[in-house]
Amino acid sequence: MGVWPLDGIMLLQLFIILSLPHFQNAQIVYFPAAKVPTSWTINPRTSAYDQIILSNGKPNAKNGFACGFYFQNDKRSFYLAIGSAAASIDTSGNQVWTFTDNIAWLANRNRPVGENAELQLLPDGNLVLKDTDGSLVWSTDTANKSVAGMKMMETGNLVLHDGYNNTIWQSFDHPMDKLLSGQKLLAGQKLVASISKTNVSEGDYSVSLTSKGLVAFYDEIMYFSLYFPDFFPEIQTVESIELTVNGTFGVYALTREGLKLLFPFPRFSNYTRMKYDSKGHLRLYDHNSKSADMLRDHVNECDYPTSCGNYGLCSNGRCSCPAGFAQDNVSKAQGYFRCNEVNPTACGNPLSHSLLSYENVHYFNYSAGIVKVTDMASCKQSCLKNCSCKVALFRYNNNFSYGECLWPSPVLSLINERTDRYYSSFPFIKISNDVGSGRGSIHTRTIAGIITGTILLVGLIVGLSWILYFRKNRDGEDEMEDYLDKLSGLPKRFTYQELRVATNDFQKKLGKGGFGSVFEGNTTVGEKIAVKRLDALGQGKKEFLAEVKTIGSIHHNNLVRLIGFCAEKLQRLLVYEFMCNGSLDKWIFHEPLKHSLDWQIRKTIILDIAKGLAYLHEDCRQKIVHLDIKPQNILLDADLHAKISDFGLSKLIDRNQSQVLTTIRGTVGYLAPEWFSSIITEKVDVYSFGIVVMEVVCGRKNLDSSQPEECMHLLPIFMQKAKQDQLIDMVDRSNEDMQLHKSEVVEMMKVAIWCLQSNYTRRPSMSKVVKVLEGNMDVEADLDYSIHNATTTTAIRKAAEQATTAPLSPFILSGPR
Ligand SMILES: *[C@@H]1O[C@H](CO)[C@@H](O)[C@H](O)[C@H]1NC(C)=O
Ligand SMILES: *[C@@H]1O[C@H](CO)[C@@H](O)[C@H](O)[C@H]1NC(C)=O
Ligand SMILES: *[C@@H]1O[C@H](CO)[C@@H](O)[C@H](O)[C@H]1NC(C)=O
Ligand SMILES: *[C@@H]1O[C@H](CO)[C@@H](O)[C@H](O)[C@H]1NC(C)=O
Ligand SMILES: *[C@@H]1O[C@H](CO)[C@@H](O)[C@H](O)[C@H]1NC(C)=O
Ligand SMILES: *[C@@H]1O[C@H](CO)[C@@H](O)[C@H](O)[C@H]1NC(C)=O
Ligand SMILES: *[C@@H]1O[C@H](CO)[C@@H](O)[C@H](O)[C@H]1NC(C)=O
Ligand SMILES: *[C@@H]1O[C@H](CO)[C@@H](O)[C@H](O)[C@H]1NC(C)=O
Ligand SMILES: *[C@@H]1O[C@H](CO)[C@@H](O)[C@H](O)[C@H]1NC(C)=O
Repeated sequence: MGVWPLDGIMLLQLFIILSLPHFQNAQIVYFPAAKVPTSWTINPRTSAYDQIILSNGKPNAKNGFACGFYFQNDKRSFYLAIGSAAASIDTSGNQVWTFTDNIAWLANRNRPVGENAELQLLPDGNLVLKDTDGSLVWSTDTANKSVAGMKMMETGNLVLHDGYNNTIWQSFDHPMDKLLSGQKLLAGQKLVASISKTNVSEGDYSVSLTSKGLVAFYDEIMYFSLYFPDFFPEIQTVESIELTVNGTFGVYALTREGLKLLFPFPRFSNYTRMKYDSKGHLRLYDHNSKSADMLRDHVNECDYPTSCGNYGLCSNGRCSCPAGFAQDNVSKAQGYFRCNEVNPTACGNPLSHSLLSYENVHYFNYSAGIVKVTDMASCKQSCLKNCSCKVALFRYNNNFSYGECLWPSPVLSLINERTDRYYSSFPFIKISNDVGSGRGSIHTRTIAGIITGTILLVGLIVGLSWILYFRKNRDGEDEMEDYLDKLSGLPKRFTYQELRVATNDFQKKLGKGGFGSVFEGNTTVGEKIAVKRLDALGQGKKEFLAEVKTIGSIHHNNLVRLIGFCAEKLQRLLVYEFMCNGSLDKWIFHEPLKHSLDWQIRKTIILDIAKGLAYLHEDCRQKIVHLDIKPQNILLDADLHAKISDFGLSKLIDRNQSQVLTTIRGTVGYLAPEWFSSIITEKVDVYSFGIVVMEVVCGRKNLDSSQPEECMHLLPIFMQKAKQDQLIDMVDRSNEDMQLHKSEVVEMMKVAIWCLQSNYTRRPSMSKVVKVLEGNMDVEADLDYSIHNATTTTAIRKAAEQATTAPLSPFILSGPR
């Protein structure tokens, strides 16, 4: 049995090299040649201090890591830990160690060991931790796997390796509640938060990487999910999340295709670790332990299931207790929030209980307990009758004879905010009528009586008004009508039935886009219309109508006009003017080019698009970034004048997905490079416009999978030619008229290149583009022909390949704010 061997850190970079491959006759060679133990014991004499086993050479530096025994508070709980450690001299002059930083990793968080417990690297290569009584507490399970040594990496990774330095086991593969810089959270792995700041055992909060993204759970019940950019509908698997300290940004998602996608988390430099804390918050820390809440822009404080503790009411991040409950003294003293019943409801006579209600109180997830489908009255009755029901939440959508009754257990925080757009939800909180049985004085009893009486009276009045209100408004539609009346300036409102008739039951599909399908229709007066049926926006009517109002108020010759809309139940439809010549892609890409466009027409189309975009960016009351400029979204009218469609829709999507993190939005092939790294501005539209111009003058798609591998991506070829001053080779050969105007076309190509500058600040504004096209300004002379790597990755080529079977459709990733 080894004893605590080291006076301080002599064992920098310790390697215990066992000979390979036969362990039985292993001759132990130490490197560096020093006598080192293969077993370490918690020394009772020094157990008031942490004991360092291995360090990577920079024990005092803040970014150095050590592995050793860490003790918490009492002398009886020890953990095998990784963290940074510092030496100091104790009162009797001995050098002692303490882990300075927050602990990065613990082997045995749920099972602390006592004094004399032992860590052993066994001859068979297994690293085991045994408690005082010899019982096995933890092991790396690496017996007979050719382990030759153990080392502590600078990154904070504890590695068991073989004689060839191959990693057999590493602590990075077994995350606790933190990710260190360079560490990855792989699909299927989770970070489990500690019970509290002082208790490191596994708590109820966990976060893991699944096909739904980064998903946060409280006791296996999901409360938050962060979707990943589904870049390419087919090949979008995110395999891991990595934390890096490189650059300003911190957290990346890595896809199976090797793409590195940045999370739009708070800008905060020098992250060194990410921690899932005991309150369910995902935080980033820097060298100085300053932290930032990664999800502060995406999750409301009240959406954290324990934001206000048991029974707490959370409203705009503030906590209060429902009537009949009060914050207890312990929680008050310790600075957290928790509500307790003033008079605990005893089991027995249900008549001694009553239910209190509040308006619009939601719960973080309606799967968190026993749920029954029922009506409001039965929900209340069943809760009153059953002892085990402390709180029932009833939620319904329009019809309150048909809803869900949830009995959460335990009862976590109640969210008193209008967060749910579909459902109305009421809590029924059980309180005791039996105020007199409390031990309080007559005086307090009287006051309590008065308070309860008042509450009941108010409750009664509120209840009655609700009932009256709902008698009047059977299905919520009426409420909407009232709202509609107030909202003037809306385009024409259609009923769903009207649009069904107009489109002959949605027979003739004109196309399908990221937001839904478009159908041809005729109004009763014979006017042709295009009806867009939006896919599940999951958005509330008011928000939808507000957006419709904005979009409807935008009028410009080069923007497709919104004629009307329909918002009935969950249906959301938009009615647009009909554009008889369809979308631009059909005119520039489709082979054989039956109706290939002449140069003058192409020039006009480009100018039209530029004007439309300039208007959206610069002249609207509220700046609108389109985010999905591509030929499919440019429509041509009878005179082949171009109009931009689908503007404003990005906002429709965003608004409703307040829960959903959005990073990238747009279509492969048209995405500006800054999507992969920095701030998103209207210049992403300028970039996409540049791609469209390039496509229009070259007569082919940027990403064309029908081309041989090396020509599949047009942009690099285009830039290469520009660099060699050979742009003339790129002019669309399928059209004679284009060939006749080569020099003018090359000028247009330069406009495209200006718009395609990798650095978005170097791209022109759309109004400048209009000036250039109208001949009132010149293209900037000093252009950069480099292209950003992110836009030419293998992944994009792969996506293009897949696009041969399924045409690339716009897809919603995530949106900038
Ligand atoms: C390791 O190998 C030895 C000898 O082959 C065997 O006795 C022992 O059971 C093995 N241990 C494990 C955990 O497989
Ligand atoms: C193993 O890696 C260490 C550094 O991590 C290096 O010093 C050592 O020479 C390597 N050993 C072998 C056998 O490659
Ligand atoms: C941590 O909490 C768990 C569960 O409540 C408890 O069993 C354990 O004793 C606590 N550990 C410490 C060190 O307080
Ligand atoms: C509620 O939790 C369940 C179980 O984890 C999950 O399947 C469901 O999607 C969650 N619901 C919401 C609205 O997050
Ligand atoms: C930072 O990035 C550079 C270049 O990508 C790389 O060589 C280096 O190893 C990175 N450093 C860290 C600490 O990740
Ligand atoms: C980030 O860390 C680097 C290297 O440690 C340092 O030079 C830089 O000043 C730090 N930046 C901030 C904002 O702290
Ligand atoms: C809580 O504190 C109040 C005032 O500080 C005191 O009157 C009351 O007795 C305390 N309650 C309990 C349960 O300790
Ligand atoms: C009360 O509810 C619990 C949980 O649903 C159920 O198991 C129990 O049988 C109910 N008790 C009565 C008396 O209905
Ligand atoms: C409400 O739901 C009940 C029960 O499913 C059903 O009988 C009733 O017709 C519904 N009322 C309305 C207005 O939809």
